[in-house]
Amino acid sequence: MRILAFETSCDETAAAIVRDGRHILSNVVLSQTDLHALYGGVVPELASRRHMESMVVLSERALDQAQLRKGDIDAVAATHAPGLIGALLVGVGFAKGVAFALDKPLIPVHHIRGHIAACYLAHPDLAPPFAALVVSGGHTLILDVRGYTEMGVMGSTRDDAAGEAFDKIARVLGLAYPGGAALEALAAQGDPDAYRLPRPKVAGNPLDMSFSGLKTAALNVMGTAAARGEPLDKAGLAASFTRAVCETLVARAALAVERLGYGACVLAGGVAANSTLRRLLREALGGRSLYMPPTPLCGDNAAMIGAQAYYEFQSGARADMALNAQANYPVDS
Ligand code: KG4
Ligand code: ZN
Repeated sequence: MRILAFETSCDETAAAIVRDGRHILSNVVLSQTDLHALYGGVVPELASRRHMESMVVLSERALDQAQLRKGDIDAVAATHAPGLIGALLVGVGFAKGVAFALDKPLIPVHHIRGHIAACYLAHPDLAPPFAALVVSGGHTLILDVRGYTEMGVMGSTRDDAAGEAFDKIARVLGLAYPGGAALEALAAQGDPDAYRLPRPKVAGNPLDMSFSGLKTAALNVMGTAAARGEPLDKAGLAASFTRAVCETLVARAALAVERLGYGACVLAGGVAANSTLRRLLREALGGRSLYMPPTPLCGDNAAMIGAQAYYEFQSGARADMALNAQANYPVDS
């Protein structure tokens, strides 16, 4: 089954064709980073407008790259939630038009489920159940993935997403948006013991997380250095902050795996590209299997949406022409 999938939940316009949930026939991503870097963050209306301009070209490119014609497509999928509402509406509206014109089924896909499905594309042997740590710019979740379309939230951030915290610290250190990858490069030159930062715990659920206090602690380090006229060890702060965030995430993921008793854990989302996070999680899991997407599939793309769409379709998910986008939508409903 060949699914033409679209992803427009934030600032990447993406189209892909995926066969049977596991094989990428084409995967095209148009990043809007340059556009938003001017403003230090995503400007929602500009993101929607850029999606609007790019959709037709991208879908044609996805067909060309796969050497397929429109008639070869069996179903159409789009991210319908969660994300920037204006951005989502462009992808959902476009997918509806394509599905209607081709008279093919329309499959709505949850963005976070898509991030998990990026691992199915890279690891043919991976199948639920497994524990999943999904870390992106908007979400930080620990999930019990019982089946391809059946999952429960075990823990989540109470405030900032980890990617958001990375971007914020990168920004105050003078790095361009989105700062996650640049912060990783800076951290590689620093000592993770340069500054002592907290490992915040949340009362109630040991699997929940909080990053705003950690972010404030890092900002205080900068403020104190400036007030005392002392030089700031930027690489040391980047490394110390990265390790504090990663240790917080890894401790929760390891606890979730232990509680569930599964032999496998998945790491996904844009922040899954971070090499410190990948290394620390692998170490913490010991002999258990860790599945991660290759770096190009960690960030937003449509191949992951096409992969998850296959399993949503298998479980009976179909949308009609009344499909709408949702800015917020639970991953487990
Ligand atoms: O999943 P994603 O592409 O978009 C959302 O769904 O939010 O994640 C984007 C986030 C951004 O915060 C970005 O800075 C972060 O992932 N990111 C990284 C790295 N690469 C991207 N964070 C840390 N280290 C990286 N190497
Ligand atoms: Zn994402």
